[in-house]
Amino acid sequence: MSSATIDLLPATPEDADEIRALAESIWWRVYPAILAPEQIRFMLDWMYAPRQLRSEIASGQVQYQFFLLGGERIGYSAHHAGQESGEIHLSKFYLATQYHGQGLGSAALQALIAQARSEDARSLTLRVNRQNHAALRCYLRNGFHVIRNVLTHIGGGFVMDDHWMRLDLPLTVPGPNEPAPPAPPA
Ligand SMILES: CC(C)(COP(=O)(O)OP(=O)(O)OC[C@H]1O[C@@H](n2cnc3c(N)ncnc32)[C@H](O)[C@@H]1OP(=O)(O)O)[C@@H](O)C(=O)NCCC(=O)NCCS
Repeated sequence: MSSATIDLLPATPEDADEIRALAESIWWRVYPAILAPEQIRFMLDWMYAPRQLRSEIASGQVQYQFFLLGGERIGYSAHHAGQESGEIHLSKFYLATQYHGQGLGSAALQALIAQARSEDARSLTLRVNRQNHAALRCYLRNGFHVIRNVLTHIGGGFVMDDHWMRLDLPLTVPGPNEPAPPAPPA
């Protein structure tokens, strides 16, 4: 794995245009291999409508973060509470294309995993297009596994044909030589 460190920077509503521009750039470079151009346009307009993006960030229900490499914004993610208690759902995970294939996606994912652990999350989930082999490899190499396949009709005659994936984050227990935590007061 790359030894680079990725820092996470929470986005604000004022960052919505920058996030949308990054999304446009990445989607049109990567997804023509797996989606028709009409579906790319439909999904970008659906997922990155500026007003919706701003209100999602402002409400705090969805947390957007930039990936920082040496202070430069090289990608972004979004996550929100999952369906189960202690679950975090990673709904967006994107790296600018000039940074692909260098281990930086894995470094960004590790930063998100460390953040989830620090918040006592029990699992991380996500969905990924079944033909998105580079992303799938990245998730598998970082410990995620496929839990099921889901075909979703999203309107406009389009479907999302995805793997649902999960990473379990077991609670860390003290090793045999580590001191046990103090007993609670009687
Ligand atoms: C998903 C995404 C962030 C993963 O990033 P990535 O760079 O492809 O994956 P990693 O960071 O794990 O990098 C590993 C690759 O870099 C290569 N690499 C080169 N130098 C490396 C280094 N020093 N350390 C680790 N890997 C290195 C590996 O060989 C590997 O290549 P491979 O996948 O062809 O086998 C990126 O592909 C992306 O943004 N895709 C478009 C958006 C997208 O589809 N997001 C997912 C939506 S669900």
